[in-house]
Amino acid sequence: MSTELSGARALVTGATAGIGRTVAVRLAALGAEVVVHGRNARRGAEVVEEISAGGGRGRFVAADLSDPADVGRLAAAAGDVDVLVNNAGIYRFEDTPGTTAEMFDTHMAINTRAPLLLVGALAPAMAARGHGAIVSLSTMAATTPARGAGVYGASKAALESLTRVWADEFGSRGVRVNAVRSGPTRTPGTAEMGEDALRTVTRATVLGRPAEAAEIAEAVLFLVSPQASYITGTVLEARGGEPAIA
Ligand SMILES: NC(=O)c1ccc[n+]([C@@H]2O[C@H](COP(=O)([O-])OP(=O)(O)OC[C@H]3O[C@@H](n4cnc5c(N)ncnc54)[C@H](OP(=O)(O)O)[C@@H]3O)[C@@H](O)[C@H]2O)c1
Repeated sequence: MSTELSGARALVTGATAGIGRTVAVRLAALGAEVVVHGRNARRGAEVVEEISAGGGRGRFVAADLSDPADVGRLAAAAGDVDVLVNNAGIYRFEDTPGTTAEMFDTHMAINTRAPLLLVGALAPAMAARGHGAIVSLSTMAATTPARGAGVYGASKAALESLTRVWADEFGSRGVRVNAVRSGPTRTPGTAEMGEDALRTVTRATVLGRPAEAAEIAEAVLFLVSPQASYITGTVLEARGGEPAIA
């Protein structure tokens, strides 16, 4: 148990699985009190137990981020936070003719609107206290065309754009806002996609393998940490490198 973040409170969305779960457990191990968010109460309780077993402090708050009222309820239940990690996200794949209005709206609601509402609800209090760190999870599909991932990539490209706006809006009052652009990562979400789909995305990396959730979590933790004190408005690439045109 370290004390680097002792006295800080963090909200990690989508902390019941994958990258978010790892971030939540690591933040708690650094001394932060962590609000573990998700929808699945059983897995939320497991994460809180894992945090407690490591000597940390955590509590679970359930909310469906596709519902703006529930996002508001989550922000109120979290209270004043020093760290916000906008991690929860969905990724469904479809070509353009197959993309429905509902699929577009759901991606934008969960991947883009929910972070917007959380930053709007929580960043002003961070700014009033003169400090805070916000990190959002993006994807290589935000900048690299990925077949079938148009809507997913667009929802995260919008999130990256908002990241730069938030950095400007809150930066002079001590709040840093960044994003991590992740490559293919082994999580329950990508396990559902299947090994073949993960292998296909992995071909777009130089390292030639998917990341482990812990490797992406480390990039998030760096941006949250005091070591990143002069870094804001950036998108840190943790995508395994971009292969050259051959
Ligand atoms: N894995 C990758 O290869 C990869 C690559 C690039 C970027 N990313 C980004 O990294 C983030 C995490 O990805 P992951 O693969 O770790 O995710 P994952 O394993 O699919 O887990 C998703 C998490 O988000 C939560 N969530 C999903 N929909 C929600 C909703 N409507 N309301 C509230 N919570 C919701 C889930 O909570 P419940 O299950 O409790 O509902 C779960 O905790 C996402 O933003 C994703 O776009 C992932």
